[in-house]
Amino acid sequence: MTTKPGPRARGATVWLTGLPSAGKTTIARHLGERLEAEGRRVEILDGDEIRRFLSAGLGFSRADRNTNVQRIGLVSEVLARNGVLSVVPVIAPYADSREAVRKRHEASATPYVEVHVATPVDVCSERDVKGLYARQAAGRLTGLTGVDDPYEPPADPDLVLATQSQTPEESADAVYAVLAERGLV
Ligand SMILES: Nc1ncnc2c1ncn2[C@@H]1O[C@H](COP(=O)(O)OP(=O)(O)OP(=O)(O)O)[C@@H](O)[C@H]1O
Ligand SMILES: [Mg+2]
Repeated sequence: MTTKPGPRARGATVWLTGLPSAGKTTIARHLGERLEAEGRRVEILDGDEIRRFLSAGLGFSRADRNTNVQRIGLVSEVLARNGVLSVVPVIAPYADSREAVRKRHEASATPYVEVHVATPVDVCSERDVKGLYARQAAGRLTGLTGVDDPYEPPADPDLVLATQSQTPEESADAVYAVLAERGLV
């Protein structure tokens, strides 16, 4: 039997950072399904969708990438502060951008969990879910994170996932375990 959480269930932001095709969206969906099955309110703020509305018009310069991350960080903090488990599969390549989001959560004592989906770039480029690595290699795209645009790995993440040697379910379960350790599920 599962116990439904009460109205005071604590929310949290779970930020999944990593390279394109690292597995962020896939893990977010598995985790979201499990949490919803347990009766939690869950929101997935996926980078691609957000760029179609909240961040429409932003590009991929350092400044625009930061603006995108700060907007998502703000929305996620508001959701999490109000009891939602907000899962954020967004590349967020810059350490200072991610740090600002963490500080925003600290300021309201809202739980924040940073997960580095640390799939090596050669595995990501083989997966190439959206064909970005191929387009970059063919000279039809520039500014691909981890290839010809920076990716600053988290220095002290709450969890590091080696997805190249895990199933998506195992990766999602590892994130769930961190939430459980913190009393958030
Ligand atoms: N352990 C794992 N965790 C997550 N994905 C995995 C794992 N093992 C294999 N995969 C596969 O890797 C691919 C990851 O694609 P996904 O769209 O989730 O990447 P992403 O990080 O969201 O990329 P992008 O930044 O471009 O949106 C999927 O095809 C997924 O099935
Ligand atoms: Mg994705």
